[in-house]
Amino acid sequence: MSVTVRVPAKVNVQLAVGAARPDGFHDLANVFLAVGLYDEVTVTPAEELRVTCAGPDAAEVPLDRTNLAARAAIALAERRGLDPAVHLHIAKDIPVAGGMAGGSADGAGALLACDALWGTGASREELLEICAELGSDVPFSLVGGAALGTGRGEKLRTLEVGGEFSWVFAMAERGLSTPAVFREFDRLTEGLDVPEPVASEDLLDALAGGDPDALAAAVSNDLQPAALSLFPELADTLAAGSAAGALAGLVSGSGPTTAFLARDTGAAAKIADALRASGTCRTVRVASGPAPGATVI
Ligand code: C5P
Repeated sequence: MSVTVRVPAKVNVQLAVGAARPDGFHDLANVFLAVGLYDEVTVTPAEELRVTCAGPDAAEVPLDRTNLAARAAIALAERRGLDPAVHLHIAKDIPVAGGMAGGSADGAGALLACDALWGTGASREELLEICAELGSDVPFSLVGGAALGTGRGEKLRTLEVGGEFSWVFAMAERGLSTPAVFREFDRLTEGLDVPEPVASEDLLDALAGGDPDALAAAVSNDLQPAALSLFPELADTLAAGSAAGALAGLVSGSGPTTAFLARDTGAAAKIADALRASGTCRTVRVASGPAPGATVI
């Protein structure tokens, strides 16, 4: 008997970042949009906890207990006094260390899969609480769709989306560490008055209206200067996407994946071809959002 859960990637259409808090985290106004690139997590009873991974980036995925999927299984088992003796297999399609919440997706997926396998019957509330303990972006991976995350990003308010948005994602030659990007943000804003992060009303209206031009005019990412400072070549990818006719281009979350909004799927295919030909990135993927959250399949 095994259970498989499919979990989407995300792009941040707005990432407003406040000053570092005493605990080192940053308050955010984080507008998440789930997009149709998915990891699948399959959980099967086993002698002891182990993690395997398959997919183009599998070699970069840690298979020990630092993997968020393993941590999710352990967290749920501890709450129920169970032994987390399961084999977690991750079929990985979301880029690793890319700013698209791939690790978070695996955490949310493993949690939902173990809940179903063990019949723990955890409430949505408890699942979200465990997700928040695992990481700032994990609750959104469970929920999917579109949401505004506040606090360190874990307090979610579901957002209405009035249409499908077409995206092109350019994966970079190497990853970026999220803590390193936040540290660079702190360095770049040292001595400056960093305003409280607030969600843009224009952006929320654009999402609700399903209007790609309005969304393009409103997207923003306060971590982008920090990501570009650590990875200057990303500017070439952003320029290539813009020259190819993207309505907007930005770094996704802490990067280094860059995200390009297209008017429709036809335009997205053309932008993807141009980015592939540009030689400024490793791989290019097309996906649209909103996509559903973690789902047992
Ligand atoms: O919550 P998570 O473990 O995903 O965060 C990874 C790292 O990103 C944190 O250790 C912290 O350095 C940084 N972070 C932050 N503020 C947030 C979310 C993450 O500084 N709101």
